[in-house]
Amino acid sequence: MSPKLQPVRGTHDWIGEDYDHFSYLAQKIEEIARRYNYSGLITPIFEHANVFTKNLGEESDIVGKEMYTFEDRGGDLITLRPEGTAPLVRAIISNGMTQNLPLKAFYHGPMFRYERPQGGRTRQFHQFGIECLGIDHPLCDVEVIHMANSVFRELNIDKKITIEINTLGHSEDRERYKKVLVDYLAIYESDLSEDSKRRLTTNPLRILDSKDVMDKEITESAPKLHDVLDRDSLLYFEKVCEGLERLAVPFVVNQRLVRGLDYYSHTAFEFTTTLLGAQGAVGAGGRYNGLVEQMGGSQLAGVGWALGIERLLALSDITLPSKPLIAIIPLDSSCDEEAFFLAQKLRECSSHHIEVALSGNASKRMKRADKLGATHAILLDKSEMAHNMYVMRNMLTKEQKLIPHSQIVRALIELN
Ligand code: HAM
Repeated sequence: MSPKLQPVRGTHDWIGEDYDHFSYLAQKIEEIARRYNYSGLITPIFEHANVFTKNLGEESDIVGKEMYTFEDRGGDLITLRPEGTAPLVRAIISNGMTQNLPLKAFYHGPMFRYERPQGGRTRQFHQFGIECLGIDHPLCDVEVIHMANSVFRELNIDKKITIEINTLGHSEDRERYKKVLVDYLAIYESDLSEDSKRRLTTNPLRILDSKDVMDKEITESAPKLHDVLDRDSLLYFEKVCEGLERLAVPFVVNQRLVRGLDYYSHTAFEFTTTLLGAQGAVGAGGRYNGLVEQMGGSQLAGVGWALGIERLLALSDITLPSKPLIAIIPLDSSCDEEAFFLAQKLRECSSHHIEVALSGNASKRMKRADKLGATHAILLDKSEMAHNMYVMRNMLTKEQKLIPHSQIVRALIELN
């Protein structure tokens, strides 16, 4: 026997209720984003590789080891998008949209990262993201965090999530801090993990983010970024914190939060939970004031976040209202055609979900309608059809009544 056909490791299929919850969640977040006057934008799921290699940071895990990159048949180097911010910025530059500001866009769709799959971490996963370009104002950061908090509140998961925020200052702040940090870490170099030893020269800030126990112990007493921030950066961060307090958005300041992507400056944040094991980040984001210019556009401020849809779903308890299902059941095959055309007509004039049973004998058709959860059935049999009548059956009470053909649409609408 041939081996069972399996999906690619780290991917999965969305079937039945999983699909319904997924689509409900995306719609719900979209509805919230529209309340903040964001509009939707879809970018391709693959881009020229340099959209990511040049902009996410050579030392980032994504660029270093997680991208799905391949040469296509025309010789172009292509990457399946690992995240949505760089593609969105690419799209607004390509479409000449940097004059029409501010630009507030949401997107959702699959992202791809070659990570080791485990609970809550897959190689194809889905994000819902928002990006706000063209407003360099702390209140804009407050608004995007407030929007994320609205998502959590309306999904009833806000108690399960902590909003952690930090500031990374501007680039001069970070350069100053890197020197101070490297001087401190150099003393402990031999005790650092191999990754962190390498990062000492390539990207020392990321060492603060290390999960290694010894690294964590060493960085615990490292000098803090906030101690070297200039006055403007501190003031900016204070305004963000004040705004959140005023809106009663709960948050904690985490000075170790540095984010794994290079494009951030000033505000950075993560939405974390302790309920999903090792994969505790439900979403993350921050300000990226240099990215648009770095990608070839004008000097434009930006801020946004992306939520992991699978992780949000794992935290949410979604119950969807079920729409009544009506089964159209020909009790003998001579009524099949009549049933089929009746079903199409009813779909055109009512919003009920309608299933027409064409396979098996009458008893199989009835059983299947029951199994599907039909609330009512319209039965067609030869003798009643001769009198221009259908039989409407309540599948729960088993009650039946005769309905003239001319009255069936009205009878169906009255079922609401
Ligand atoms: P990120 O932190 O790389 O940020 O990803 C955002 C979220 O995507 C994570 O918090 C997590 O919920 C989800 N996620 C990431 N990797 C996986 C995975 N392998 N399996 C399941 N879920 C995953 C970004 O992508 C930035 N573009 C966010 C942003 C938008 N910054 C500014 N604007």
